[in-house]
Amino acid sequence: NFYLQTEVLGKEIRYYPAITSTQESAHQWALAGAKEGSLVIADQQTTGRGRLGTSWVSPAGTGIWMSLILRPNALLKFASHFTLLAAVSVFEAIQSLSSYPIHIKWPNDLLINKKKVCGILTELKGEQDRVDYMVIGIGLNVKQNDQLPSHATSLEEAAGKQYIRAQVIAQILQRIELCYMEYVKEGFAPIRKRWEAGAQSFFGREVQAKTWNGVIKGIAEGLNDDGALIIRSEGEKRIIYSADIQMT
Ligand code: BTN
Repeated sequence: NFYLQTEVLGKEIRYYPAITSTQESAHQWALAGAKEGSLVIADQQTTGRGRLGTSWVSPAGTGIWMSLILRPNALLKFASHFTLLAAVSVFEAIQSLSSYPIHIKWPNDLLINKKKVCGILTELKGEQDRVDYMVIGIGLNVKQNDQLPSHATSLEEAAGKQYIRAQVIAQILQRIELCYMEYVKEGFAPIRKRWEAGAQSFFGREVQAKTWNGVIKGIAEGLNDDGALIIRSEGEKRIIYSADIQMT
């Protein structure tokens, strides 16, 4: 990829025309000792995975389906910082490639015109209380296609122009690298600030959070220092670590 100007990320790439899921392949590679920044890309996934046990439609040639391996020197309890870091990076990368409004929905969905254009799946393996490796899976719909669910959209539909996937990938990796370096130097605060800027249209809204033990309705109020979502529900602050969020 001659567009790529990174130091660490994407220096080793495994590309597959078709694969079950780039996540699976990245896990295997990481367990076999892949270096930080190693990247798996596929043109098509036959069983792409989404968050919370959903599937991810990944037809040939229509999107960016990739999984990035990171080995941050981090405590497990800070893992969600990297999820938000990935979201803000892709958000800023897309912003730099076009001018239409794009929004972040907690924790890491990117929406255009209220429709999902990108989803991120962060998975990790820990060693006691530390991260051993992390796989950040990014699914970005680039071309419109008839398999996209009705609540989803693509970059090209929104922008009305065509994109070169290699260029978009390079932009995303460069952005993740910058944010990652910033995180190592300055911690979560600057990332959090930019994430919140991208999620402005999300905060203050009425939301419904489907968690493992029930549905919580309330107003999305902000993030806590762990990157968890604060919802004000019937006068009480509720902290949400993992959920499927619907905006009502
Ligand atoms: C979500 O549910 O929003 C997360 C979707 C993540 C999809 C990407 S596509 C590349 C990588 N491989 C997978 O099987 N899933 C992730």
